[in-house]
Amino acid sequence: MLGSEAVRAAPGGVRPLPVTRADCDLAEPEHVELLFERLKPKGVLHCAGYTQVDRAEVAEEAAFSDNVEATKSVAAAARLRGIPMLLVSTDYVFDGTSRRPYREDDPPHPLNIYGRTKLEAEQAARDAIIVRSSWLYGPRGRHFVGAILEQATKPEIRVVDDQRGCPTSTLELAPVLWELLLRGIPGIYHAACEGSCTWHELALAAFEMRGAGGPKVVPCATAEYPRPAKRPAMSALDCGKLAAIRGKRLPHWRDALRRFLVA
Ligand SMILES: NC(=O)c1ccc[n+]([C@@H]2O[C@H](COP(=O)([O-])OP(=O)(O)OC[C@H]3O[C@@H](n4cnc5c(N)ncnc54)[C@H](OP(=O)(O)O)[C@@H]3O)[C@@H](O)[C@H]2O)c1
Repeated sequence: MLGSEAVRAAPGGVRPLPVTRADCDLAEPEHVELLFERLKPKGVLHCAGYTQVDRAEVAEEAAFSDNVEATKSVAAAARLRGIPMLLVSTDYVFDGTSRRPYREDDPPHPLNIYGRTKLEAEQAARDAIIVRSSWLYGPRGRHFVGAILEQATKPEIRVVDDQRGCPTSTLELAPVLWELLLRGIPGIYHAACEGSCTWHELALAAFEMRGAGGPKVVPCATAEYPRPAKRPAMSALDCGKLAAIRGKRLPHWRDALRRFLVA
């Protein structure tokens, strides 16, 4: 979802070299070495990862391989060549107990295996540019907004209203990844659309903006809708550091959602 958008968003003068699993299993260090030898990249946007939060609970090895081992090999290859690397990470490194949006230096404490493997990936790439984002959706791939809109013909759906985050469109995030990679200064950066909402508010907004009606969207509690992976109740990100660097904020999640729905 994000990688393909990053390829499309490559700035002028930059030739993106897209890599998928068909080209290379990034968890295999020798394969990554050969890949880097062949492509001779000048920098790396590492968007690959194991992203199925619930399945990770029963597939810890796969999550570890795709998130931790892959990041280790990509980071080692980038380090060897002295080229900048950007790792995409997640709000799910936090436990959701904060009363305010999370800052970069707040202590992480993941609640699930996906979050734990992403945190370990961050530690394996601590000399890289680490961009934590949240609740992604975009023109490609499977995501909450798409899955919700597919339920348009149902009379009623129930959506949890006790988890809060920052829905972020890949259309908005992808150019920021390039900006940070080209700037080349390592560190952790929070990058998400402005504002925050619950999944219930996001579902309501998606149907409302798309028009043509939709189901009755009934709020429900996480406890009524048990999932294998525990999720943070409040994982909104404070993106002040990024705003100070760029001199502007990402758009509000509602504006970004509108742009995505008309795109
Ligand atoms: N989705 C979100 O809501 C969200 C929120 C915050 C942060 N993030 C982070 O943002 C990044 C991008 O997420 P996304 O939603 O765009 O993910 P995605 O759509 O699931 O894409 C991840 C891609 O990585 C590939 N991949 C995984 N392990 C690989 C390996 N060992 N070798 C080669 N390719 C591998 C996957 O290939 P296969 O399909 O073959 O496995 C897939 O094409 C991830 O780091 C994720 O943790 C996502």
